[in-house]
Amino acid sequence: MLAMKRLSSFVFLLPFLLLAFVYSLFFPGDFTILPSLARCSNVQETTASSINRTEEPAVDLRVLLGVVTRAEMYERRALLRLAYALQPPPERAVIDVRFFVCSLAREEDAVLVSLEIIAHGDVVVLNCTENMDDGKTHSYFSAVPGLFVDAPYDYVGKVDDDSYYRLAALADTLRDKPRRDLYHGFLAPCHAGPGAPRFMSGMGYIVSWDVAAWVAATEALRRDVRGPEDEVFGRWLRSGGKGRNRYGEETRMYDYLDGGMREGVNCFRHALVADTVVVHKLKDRLKWARTLKFFNATQGLRPSKLYHVDL
Ligand SMILES: *[C@@H]1O[C@H](CO)[C@@H](O)[C@H](O)[C@H]1NC(C)=O
Ligand SMILES: *[C@@H]1O[C@H](CO)[C@@H](O)[C@H](O)[C@H]1NC(C)=O
Ligand SMILES: *[C@@H]1O[C@H](CO)[C@@H](O)[C@H](O)[C@H]1NC(C)=O
Repeated sequence: MLAMKRLSSFVFLLPFLLLAFVYSLFFPGDFTILPSLARCSNVQETTASSINRTEEPAVDLRVLLGVVTRAEMYERRALLRLAYALQPPPERAVIDVRFFVCSLAREEDAVLVSLEIIAHGDVVVLNCTENMDDGKTHSYFSAVPGLFVDAPYDYVGKVDDDSYYRLAALADTLRDKPRRDLYHGFLAPCHAGPGAPRFMSGMGYIVSWDVAAWVAATEALRRDVRGPEDEVFGRWLRSGGKGRNRYGEETRMYDYLDGGMREGVNCFRHALVADTVVVHKLKDRLKWARTLKFFNATQGLRPSKLYHVDL
């Protein structure tokens, strides 16, 4: 009975459907057979544009933060993902944190890094072999301008995997800086006398896109990669007269220190402070834990009968 009814209504509709089909062949542009769906997407558009208008100011700053690390640092990447995912997002800025590793050399890395890429899509595999102080910085800066040529960033940063940036603080400090010829970080060595050649410490430094493009395009640098790589990077910029807008963020960028450590305060190391841009030397889980707690990352934990986390 029901089937009959369906069939008869289909037969009744058939001429109209045919007419509609023929019409759509001649006027494909303004024809839609799915008015309800079209309404749905209109609703979405309206919502999106009102959010755009009222709540989300336009993005005026885009930064690529490349964490240069090694394939086997699985736990560190997991921690960094958590730490950055739980930070309040910076306002009016996009800061993409991506992990850069050299070519994968072991069977397990080929599989496990593939899984990370499927799940998170935040790993870039450079064409380099893993080594210390032998050109990885060059591989990074010379690859980035080509890899992201379709959507260039304002700034490109190279970051240690034991550094923790506070993205909102970083965005605020970069927002009013020049978008060209910029070299931002922690000027080292901080105890050097005036006139000594200085460079931005490897904890993390940022250059404007034009500087990264210059590194990529300057063939001679490829042969000048010997030495501590961040010092080498500073040497390149000096020799090419690049990165003249230098901004050192001393006291807001520093090595981690707490009361349990034997080291003391010096010009690059002190206790955690609220207006931090980056903390460096987070070499173990306890240092990460204390740092993330200090910056209130645990405040999002809701009370529940399912867990208790107090010691
Ligand atoms: C939404 O944002 C875009 C990009 O910033 C801007 O060009 C556009 O005018 C905005 N639309 C509305 C309705 O505010
Ligand atoms: C690595 O080299 C291959 C082959 O030359 C190239 O297709 C690929 O884009 C390179 N990858 C990166 C990250 O530079
Ligand atoms: C963490 O939260 C407390 C309480 O809301 C606040 O007083 C403190 O300033 C926050 N710490 C940082 C580093 O923002």
